[in-house]
Amino acid sequence: MAILAKHLLGIETMAPEEIFSILDLAESYVTLNRDQVKHSNVLAGMTQINMFFENSTRTQASFELAGKRLGADVMNMAVAKSSIAKGETLIDTALTLNAMRPDLIVVRHPSSGAVNLLAEKVNCSVVNAGDGRHEHPTQALLDALTIRRAKGRLTRLTIAICGDISHSRVARSNILLLGKLGNRIRLVGPRTLMPFGIDEFGVEVFDDLRKGINAADVVMMLRLQTERMEGAFVPSVREYYHLYGLDAEKLKFAKADAIVMHPGPMNRGVEIDGALADDIGRSVIQDQVEMGVAVRMAVLDLLARNLRRAVLEAGRSRK
Ligand code: NCD
Repeated sequence: MAILAKHLLGIETMAPEEIFSILDLAESYVTLNRDQVKHSNVLAGMTQINMFFENSTRTQASFELAGKRLGADVMNMAVAKSSIAKGETLIDTALTLNAMRPDLIVVRHPSSGAVNLLAEKVNCSVVNAGDGRHEHPTQALLDALTIRRAKGRLTRLTIAICGDISHSRVARSNILLLGKLGNRIRLVGPRTLMPFGIDEFGVEVFDDLRKGINAADVVMMLRLQTERMEGAFVPSVREYYHLYGLDAEKLKFAKADAIVMHPGPMNRGVEIDGALADDIGRSVIQDQVEMGVAVRMAVLDLLARNLRRAVLEAGRSRK
């Protein structure tokens, strides 16, 4: 079975075997990335364009490093300076770039569904680096790799995802991925930050942090995504931290060996205590960043294999 099809748009359509194949390949890239010479040539000769229509530090940097370590020519499109700022639509920009014959386009966009739409208009492979509150598949994959390395398995775990669930594509992709593998998922946060129709997600919902993380193996904290909020969703940051901010005291309710995760960027003193975030005995936040590069290398590698296979097959059918 080919792992991944032409694009990576979301976790929703992925089979567990595909997820495991990506994680297994990513393990080999973790090893490569710890070497002094971090180079492979599986993308040699290919062109990768990163189009980020939303701010990003770690995701963009990690896609850029991933492409470069695999030998691709990587271009980061400066969206603020591009014709988008002059009113060109996403699709026009995509078609213009498509005419330059890239092999891979990595896209982040504020609108849910924009990346799927773009994938229909271009010839190359498209990777979703986050679209609105819809999906962020490579984040869920890197979180899964981090959990598997810390816990030794990716099933039968109790995972509490805490904070601003309703605005979070990270939460959505993680619920889909971890749900497919037979984990117990709890969503923890104020009712105002829970998405509509939450009862159909196959998860347990808590508005009390201590109860929600009770005996959990994994506690995943999320940022308050104020840029996606219209109006006030929480009374005050101080009260939010008091009720929902994770610190060492509240973490005592989770399992003694529970790990603490955060996709970043984190707001210290809002959803998480700074000292706990830095405590490498509990927090795997830096591991998540490291796994991010390896997972993105695995994804780009697999998509490139599929592109090469498609070219070979097209050549064969022409003969
Ligand atoms: C997340 C995102 O952009 O969706 N960050 C990330 O990719 N590391 C989460 C966030 O912005 O809070």
